[in-house]
Amino acid sequence: MEKQHGKTVSAEKALVLQRARDYLFPQRIDQLSALGVDLVIGQREAYRFSDMDGREFMDFHLNGGTYSLGHRHPQLLAVLRESLEFADVGNHHFPNPARAELAKRLALATGLQYTVFTPSGAEANDVAIKSARRYTRRRKIVALEQGYHGRSGLSGAAGDDSSAAWFGSDYPEEFIKVPFNDIDAMERALGGADVAAVLMETIPATSGFPMPEPDYLPGVRALCNRYGTVYIADEVQTGLGRTGKLWGVDCWAVKPDILITGKGLSGGLYPVSAAVLSNDVGAWLAEDGWGYVSTFGGAEPGCAVGCRALELCSDPATLANVEVIATYLRRGLEDIQGRQPFLSEIRQQGLVMGLKFDAPDGGMQMTGALFKKGIWAMFAAFDPSVLQLKPGLLVDTAYCDEALQRIEDALASLAGTSGGD
Ligand SMILES: Cc1ncc(COP(=O)(O)O)c(C=O)c1O
Repeated sequence: MEKQHGKTVSAEKALVLQRARDYLFPQRIDQLSALGVDLVIGQREAYRFSDMDGREFMDFHLNGGTYSLGHRHPQLLAVLRESLEFADVGNHHFPNPARAELAKRLALATGLQYTVFTPSGAEANDVAIKSARRYTRRRKIVALEQGYHGRSGLSGAAGDDSSAAWFGSDYPEEFIKVPFNDIDAMERALGGADVAAVLMETIPATSGFPMPEPDYLPGVRALCNRYGTVYIADEVQTGLGRTGKLWGVDCWAVKPDILITGKGLSGGLYPVSAAVLSNDVGAWLAEDGWGYVSTFGGAEPGCAVGCRALELCSDPATLANVEVIATYLRRGLEDIQGRQPFLSEIRQQGLVMGLKFDAPDGGMQMTGALFKKGIWAMFAAFDPSVLQLKPGLLVDTAYCDEALQRIEDALASLAGTSGGD
């Protein structure tokens, strides 16, 4: 055992942390240490994982929905293993059965036509932006001031300004930012009829899941129709059942021209993300089949897992469970709120949840306090007063009871009333 930041950790874990500080991301390791978080994930199963040193955690982060169906879901593991019996990544120049099947299923699930598979959500957003530009022959993209779409070139430029500007990869003349829920600002941005696409998360995750006003998303859709602008729905966090509907936009009866999915499509086992394009916006695929290529985009094992993941997320029993659990957690959290006013707001659409606390860094404080109580959940990077709470689609009420108790204990510990350390 060794001491790290006043904590005793095993020699094996200390070595990993030291290597990460030396060779990966020193500042990240230091920032997490300052919160008391020295996690190196070891064993994992369903909605729990253990630290390398054996401490168990309930996973309420799920890597943004990557583990919506749980860690190492047995059916998804079986599909992956079966695929690896005969397949490898495949040759990206050719179709393969799993890629063709998943593309067909995504078309049926979205009412759109073509799918471009990519390894990451960021790259899928890049493809979406390029497709919209090609279709409209316009360059401008309108996005939210505090959106997050990944950290590749175009997707990074579409997200909040800070990171892209820091790397000198921002394009302020071409990427126009508007505030969320401000339909007038959106109309001003689109009114010149020179915007290729609006790119928006349905419920902005990194801003702490502020909920769209009831008319906002349909209003944006109508503006896109009026000004000839493509609507790109980034459903990387809100898709695949997390809201109780298969896609977040379904909650507001909005049909985008392009839908982006990723994370959970992989079952947490093999990277796969996708841009699903309407017939019109994807027409370039009929003109130039090599217009976009990616060695690992649409790799065979990932698409095989994706087919099963999509099936499980669309299963009416899964979506019914989301409704039950969402209601159950809401009641439990409201009860806690009655006793712990530090919890100032509960944002929720199904299992897309943000808990706002009565301090500018309240969500960050809760990440640290929950870590001590054995829950891993992350604050919202663009609004650290909010904690993102992302329960799995298949959890049961007993799991929720345990989590609610830990949440209350964490709040009590912050309030200094009880709940231990
Ligand atoms: C809404 C949203 N879009 C896009 C991305 C980027 O996905 P990836 O990390 O796979 O590039 C993320 C990742 O967190 C996301 O939350």
